[in-house]
Formats: sequence, structure tokens, C-alpha cells
Amino acid sequence: FMFERSDQLAAQVAQIIAGEIRQRAALGQQTVIGVATGSTPAGTYRELIRLHREEGLDLSGVVLFLLGEYVGLPADSPQSHARWITEHLTNHVNIAPENIYVPDVSGSGGELEAACRRHEEALVAVGGLDFAICGIGRNGHLAFNEPFSVRNSRTRLCTLDPVTRRAAASDFFGLEYVPTHAVTMGMATLMEARTILLLAIGEHKANIVQEAFEGPATDRVPASYLQGHPGASLYLDLPAAGSF
Ligand code: GLP
Repeated sequence: FMFERSDQLAAQVAQIIAGEIRQRAALGQQTVIGVATGSTPAGTYRELIRLHREEGLDLSGVVLFLLGEYVGLPADSPQSHARWITEHLTNHVNIAPENIYVPDVSGSGGELEAACRRHEEALVAVGGLDFAICGIGRNGHLAFNEPFSVRNSRTRLCTLDPVTRRAAASDFFGLEYVPTHAVTMGMATLMEARTILLLAIGEHKANIVQEAFEGPATDRVPASYLQGHPGASLYLDLPAAGSF
């Protein structure tokens, strides 16, 4: 789906999610959503906040799972994904705090592995993702599934690609301050979502969008796996659509 402007894209994606939340709530069901952070989904979350405030959208039945988190940042660091989602979404709507799942990255080694397992188990316990809202990295990553992440990977510790670290450098006021590792929901974990909405905004995403969706499905470009997902759809603004 293509939109002239990114605010139109955000409004449409928010409507889809809101519609599903309302429908499921009417049946007494929760809606489980995996959320990316970053500039791409920010407008969609802003729109969900507006729907909550102005149209009474009730998010009390929503369960959120962060798709990833940096490892090695001080707790409550302004760059952490946990802090980001608080500021850009959860502080402003009525999602219950106990329904917000953030990978615990405070430990290392076996502790961290156990925390990744708990993130997966919590997801299984609520019946898996109804939605995953994803952005795409310039290298084709999904969440922090960097190039060459395997299709059957689960939530785990990963090493950040230089492309990803460079893209984050300005957030950290210098490349040397960007973490080298992160926890990410795995490709298999993501691909089990019933609906995946991949959002791309801006000219700088045009090349990778084309490669991921017109090229072959390959582990070199993890987003290209979505070609094989029947519930995946692509939301682009005109600059990201490039020559599509
Ligand atoms: C980050 C996140 C991804 C996000 C991507 C693109 O590294 N882990 O979930 O989709 O980069 O970010 P942006 O939307 O700011 O371009």
C-alpha cells in the first residue's frame, strides 16, 4: 500500500490496528502486538494516542511486546527501546503496565539467555502475536535480525551490524557510544505473527525496500522472508516506494 504522505500512512495503519482492537475487545479477546521503535512507527503510535484521546479507543485489552532492546545501556537510558515506547506510546494510553513486555537485558550470559526465553514464553502464554508492527533497517534487518539471521531463529542476543550502528550514531551522539549488542525477537518468532505490517518511510529506505520485495527471499536481507508470509503487508510513503 502506497501513500503520498507519511501521516496518511500512519493514520491508515493506526485505523487497521484500532479496528482489530475494537473487534477483538467486543469478543472479550486481547490483542497482542509486537512493536518496533524508531522514526518509522512513531507517527502510527501518535495516531493511536489521538484515537485514544479523541475517540475513546480503549487499549486496556492490548498486550505489547517490544521486538528488541539494546544490551549494555544503563537502566532507563534515554536511547533504550523500553524508554522510547514509554514516551511515544504507553505513557499516553491505557495499556496496563503488566501487559507491557520488555526483554530484560540487565544480566549477561546465561541470565540473558534465560531472559530471552522468558520473553518467548510470555508470548506463547498469551497466544502469540496478533500483529507485528515492523520497520526495516537500511540493511534489510527486521527488529534486530541482522543480515544472515536464520529463518528459524528465536529471541536471542545478537551482534549489531555496522550499518545499524551507524544509523543509530546520532541518537547516541557518536558511533563509539552505540551498543554493540542487542536482544531481538527471532525471525521465526516474528513470522508466527498472524499479521505483519512492515512500514517504510523516506527515500533512504527505497533501495532496501526494492531489494527485499522484488529480489529473492534470502537470509542476506531478513525482511525478504516476509514475501513468504500470507499475512504480511507493506506500507510505504512515496519516497520509500521509489520506483515501485
Ligand atoms: C532499529 C530497530 C528496528 C527499526 C529499525 C529502523 O534498529 N531495532 O526495529 O525498525 O532500526 O529504524 P527507523 O524506523 O528509525 O529507520
